[in-house]
Amino acid sequence: MTLWIRAWGGNVGAGLTVERGATLRHPPSSGWDIGTAVYLGRNCILDIQPGAVLAIGSRTKIMHFVVIGAETRIEIGEDVQISEFSSVRDANHVIDSPVVIAKSGMKSSAISIGNDVWVGRGSAVLSGAKIESGAVVGANSVVNKGVDSDSIVAGAPARLLRKRQNR
Ligand SMILES: CC(C)(COP(=O)(O)OP(=O)(O)OC[C@H]1O[C@@H](n2cnc3c(N)ncnc32)[C@H](O)[C@@H]1OP(=O)(O)O)[C@@H](O)C(=O)NCCC(=O)NCCS
Repeated sequence: MTLWIRAWGGNVGAGLTVERGATLRHPPSSGWDIGTAVYLGRNCILDIQPGAVLAIGSRTKIMHFVVIGAETRIEIGEDVQISEFSSVRDANHVIDSPVVIAKSGMKSSAISIGNDVWVGRGSAVLSGAKIESGAVVGANSVVNKGVDSDSIVAGAPARLLRKRQNR
């Protein structure tokens, strides 16, 4: 996959691991910037629209069955872990419209995830989410707003449990 990403104009560092079943929904583009030693787990899906920005920092792990879906922009920092069955999607269907939802178009707001973030399994990181470095998102959470650095949040919607200790 490394050569494929580069052939389409994207950047990718050495040591990309791509497990079986990991899929790109669209060809990569020059908006891709993947660091070194990034891990794409089994059956994860990168659903990145042509022309959208996808940045994934070095040593970040996208675990099995994770979906990353970008209409415009998703930036994920270094040493991040996105645990299994989570999705990170920067767009919603337009729902305030007389048109059927499937045909009403998408509205996108960029997502950013800092460095050293752990997103617990089965979480939904939605349009507009900004998760700062060092944060932890508990299992099965829903995040569509800001999460402060070193915060541990959980739930739907995700709320602050506490701050990380010994930081
Ligand atoms: C958030 C997490 C890291 C634990 O943090 P913690 O500070 O040790 O939290 P605690 O276990 O002490 O729980 C504190 C409170 O938060 C609640 N809580 C913990 N995790 C929660 C979650 N995911 N969703 C909702 N509430 C949660 C607890 O029930 C507890 O509530 P209480 O005070 O009313 O009893 C952990 O619960 C979690 O969700 N881990 C994700 C595991 C995972 O997805 N692994 C994937 C493979 S790496």
